[in-house]
Amino acid sequence: MTRRLLVTSALPYANGPIHLGHLVEYIQTDIWVRFQKSRGHNCIYVCADDAHGTAIMLKAEQNGVTPEAQIATVKADHEADFSGFHIEFDNYHSTHSPENKKMSEFIYLKNRDGGHITTRPVRQLFDPEKQLFLADRFIKGECPKCGAKDQYGDSCEVCAATYAPTELKNPYSTISGATPIEKESEHYFFKLPDFDGMLKEWTRSGHLQSEVSNKLDEWFESGLHDWDISRDAPYFGFAIPDAPNKYFYVWLDAPIGYMASFENLCAKKNLNFDDYWAADAEGKTEIYHFIGKDIVYFHALFWPAMLDGAGFRKPTGIFAHGFLTVNGQKMSKSRGTFIKARSYLDNLNPEYLRYYFAAKLSGSVEDIDLNLEDFTFRVNSDLVGKVVNIASRCAGFINKQFEGKLADSCAEPELLAQFVDAGTSIAEHFERRDFGRAVREIMALADKANQYIDEKKPWALAKDPANREQVQAVCSVGLNMFRQLIVYLAPILPVTAEASRSFLNVDSLAWDTRQQLLISHTINAFTPLMTRVEKDKVAAMVEASKENLEPTAKVVAAPVAKEANIEAIAPTINIDDFTKIDLRVAKIVNAEHIPEAAKLLKLTLDLGNEQRTVFAGIKSAYKPEDLIGRLTVMVANLAPRQMKFGVSEGMVLAAGAGGKEIFLLSPDDGSTAGMKVK
Ligand code: MSP
Ligand code: ZN
Repeated sequence: MTRRLLVTSALPYANGPIHLGHLVEYIQTDIWVRFQKSRGHNCIYVCADDAHGTAIMLKAEQNGVTPEAQIATVKADHEADFSGFHIEFDNYHSTHSPENKKMSEFIYLKNRDGGHITTRPVRQLFDPEKQLFLADRFIKGECPKCGAKDQYGDSCEVCAATYAPTELKNPYSTISGATPIEKESEHYFFKLPDFDGMLKEWTRSGHLQSEVSNKLDEWFESGLHDWDISRDAPYFGFAIPDAPNKYFYVWLDAPIGYMASFENLCAKKNLNFDDYWAADAEGKTEIYHFIGKDIVYFHALFWPAMLDGAGFRKPTGIFAHGFLTVNGQKMSKSRGTFIKARSYLDNLNPEYLRYYFAAKLSGSVEDIDLNLEDFTFRVNSDLVGKVVNIASRCAGFINKQFEGKLADSCAEPELLAQFVDAGTSIAEHFERRDFGRAVREIMALADKANQYIDEKKPWALAKDPANREQVQAVCSVGLNMFRQLIVYLAPILPVTAEASRSFLNVDSLAWDTRQQLLISHTINAFTPLMTRVEKDKVAAMVEASKENLEPTAKVVAAPVAKEANIEAIAPTINIDDFTKIDLRVAKIVNAEHIPEAAKLLKLTLDLGNEQRTVFAGIKSAYKPEDLIGRLTVMVANLAPRQMKFGVSEGMVLAAGAGGKEIFLLSPDDGSTAGMKVK
């Protein structure tokens, strides 16, 4: 029976790049989806960028661009990274979309009209300078227990004490540096306890992994609470209907983004939205959400409750996975193990990682470790040493001596029947997301295939022309076994599978095609399918990911200030790259505040023969009047950039940690405006 499935991965935040931790999830989901498609099911995979919230709003401001421009850039980067790893979405959308706005309002209003929304005042810390309520992570101060400086608003990294942000001594806003004040405002709440009975029932009826249900039991025991779903302006998000200056908290519209991305696809592909999401669709279609263990609360409690309150069906299953560690430890920027998708792709074949993650994933919420030595060893020994080897050992004889033609009958029907039959249990492992077990079973078959070839020794047989038929028979068995293996590995290795399909000269590698043996069939020329992992490429990737986090003395592009400490560390460039940068001494002839901008000053720079306008993120460190008349260094050939407050025609250079510690480079010893910096 053909199943209809809708599958999602969590929506990545639009304020940072995709890293290998994220990829555990997207690779896991993509393998599962490709497996379902291989089985002939109708399976749709949608995702989107999670584009709302304070963090994204501030990031855009820091970069001097509109939030819309910011999320568009990040979305393009995310999509390029995903496609680099062969993650094949049927649709990739954004939560900042008309579909999502409409759907969020609809779900909210249904819940409101059903009596599941309430309001009450909340006292919170407020940044009087930025005119912004501060989430805990935007407040720092001295720990009330041990007095350690610069601790976050919820807990102390030195003594591990937890507290409320209002208990911090000498608190300050990490956004403006101002001392926060307490302020009250009306908030909107979703009455989660209204759904207590439904959720207790739902979470225990097969929709969740058992470890997750157990965790939920703890939450039920401590009691469900109303959920604060509103944020005050300024906020980058959707306005709440009939609630002036109130916005939906990002986590309200984020999961609705799954529906919105799907709705966007429905319009393109002429699909029927209600077949999937209507209250009575549960018997017709299956919906699965792949997520990390950190966001279970949102997906297993808030999400089914919101759907229920709005009259939609609930998901069929929520599949949580664990977190990625690298070499046994949390990913770390200083050790070079906080590896961005792009740094990996610059050095290594994405299928290596797809295979390694598959070999490690078990369908549980346990964390998984990427051990870089084991990674190299495993990929080389399994994929190159075992699987690809089978094809390369057999193809040469068939191509050279038999014009690519396989034998007219199968010499080992029983052996091949074993390979075909193994597909039943391998499929069960894939279905349960126990990819590790599937891989072990596939590799056991690969061992068996290699043993067979080792025993028959076609290279020895080929020395005597009398054995001609036997050589063809053995190599044909070998290539048939290879074909079975590639059918099983195709969800994990889509590119190698496609190259193999073309080499084997078959139409499809779908799961059931393994039943038809290749008899009297002509194959194409063999080209190497996969090369070994090179150790120095792994080392180069780690090196490229190492970031010196010393806060000072790094020259960074001023508009990005603090964040750039982390982001602007550049790879090694050669002298030709360097000479492309036109560095000039510039005289600051005017500097002024932009009242609406938190970080930026507007500079007018004189280059001797022309004047430029540049927006620089140095407001926290300089008064405009102190800058006028000074010399500085600018990048004169940077492409002009449209920013929120005008076009920036270059960039000034500064060093420092950010905040008050930004030092504009000043060549004050005999330089004149326009001079080239060498
Ligand atoms: N925007 C939210 C999800 C909204 S879904 C309606 C979010 N974004 S995220 O970018 O932080 O994470 C996206 C997914 O990647 C989450 O499922 C998260 O658990 C997963 N991972 C992020 N870092 C990870 C690791 N280091 N290891 C494994 N998965 C990780 O959460
Ligand atoms: Zn402390």
